[in-house]
Amino acid sequence: MNKSIAWRSPSNIAIIKYWGKYGNQLPINPSISFTLSKAHTETIIHYEKKEKNNKVELEYLFENKKNEAFEKKVKIFIESIMNDFLYLKEYKLKIESKNSFPHSAGIASSASSMSALALALVDLEQQIEGKKYSENEFLQRSSYFARLGSGSASRSVFSQVALWGATKAQQESNQEYAISINETLHQNFKNYNDTILIVDSEQKKVSSRAGHALMNTNPFAEARKIQANKNTEKLLKVLKNGDLDSFVEICENEALSLHAMMLSSTPWYSLLKPQTLVAIEKIKNFRESTKIPVCFTLDAGPNIHILYSENNKEKVREFISAELMQNMPEARIINDKMGKGPQKIY
Ligand code: PMV
Repeated sequence: MNKSIAWRSPSNIAIIKYWGKYGNQLPINPSISFTLSKAHTETIIHYEKKEKNNKVELEYLFENKKNEAFEKKVKIFIESIMNDFLYLKEYKLKIESKNSFPHSAGIASSASSMSALALALVDLEQQIEGKKYSENEFLQRSSYFARLGSGSASRSVFSQVALWGATKAQQESNQEYAISINETLHQNFKNYNDTILIVDSEQKKVSSRAGHALMNTNPFAEARKIQANKNTEKLLKVLKNGDLDSFVEICENEALSLHAMMLSSTPWYSLLKPQTLVAIEKIKNFRESTKIPVCFTLDAGPNIHILYSENNKEKVREFISAELMQNMPEARIINDKMGKGPQKIY
């Protein structure tokens, strides 16, 4: 195959958590995330003409090796969108993908990989079918298809801060694709830091898919929906007015509520590790004693995202290495920050 296209797309960390879905990947509640910078996926799609048919012809390499599990997942996804991308009936694809971060590091790899794939597929549509989208339409369409691959991926298409899901507090917000909410972002959040403390890099025992499904029978699901909507409205204000103390409150409330949903599901499960609890307690104590508005959030896993502004970087990093990493010989850190969004490589 001598033609190819390549995109790099970042992961993101949700401040307001998407947890629970219905229909075709529609969220029960809105979510807001910071797009990361260093943690990204690079996806190359090689393509070549085939005999026209309705079968997806696809080979998938992850980090230079054939990966049957990923190939199957991507194939099912591409089959499901075949009627939206007619060129898929006439071209076979070889997809190569690699991440800038270690597997199971507590970084949402489905967000970066599904957004990179969606961006490349929409770009290929322009190239092969001659469609021409404006920048806005291009991002919207990519976010829409990224969402069908993995809900959180819909937000990775945008730089800095993105919102996915309908909320009355933000015009144009909707269930089908994410939107950028950068325009009114307060200076305090520019270049916001996210240090990821990897306390455990084991593959998680319960997938996000199973976790979302357990929300259907969770007795607190309705309360969670109300809470997430309120937190979304509050955070939208905070992102405009730069109130970091309120940011801390909302952010930790969301992280702990996400894990509370797992603990209160039937059957229950926990993705937290003892070291997670030790670390979040230390972060709280450090904040209370220094008045530095540093906080944590957690994804669906035991690893901790420590969030802080650029002007507190030195003091917080010193605390992380001197206090947090102590007695955690196995722990590793990745220093990431808010990023500029996806990029076309070629
Ligand atoms: O995109 P999914 O289906 O892997 O779900 C991700 C859910 C969380 O990462 C826990 C929260 C979020 O909004 O990213």
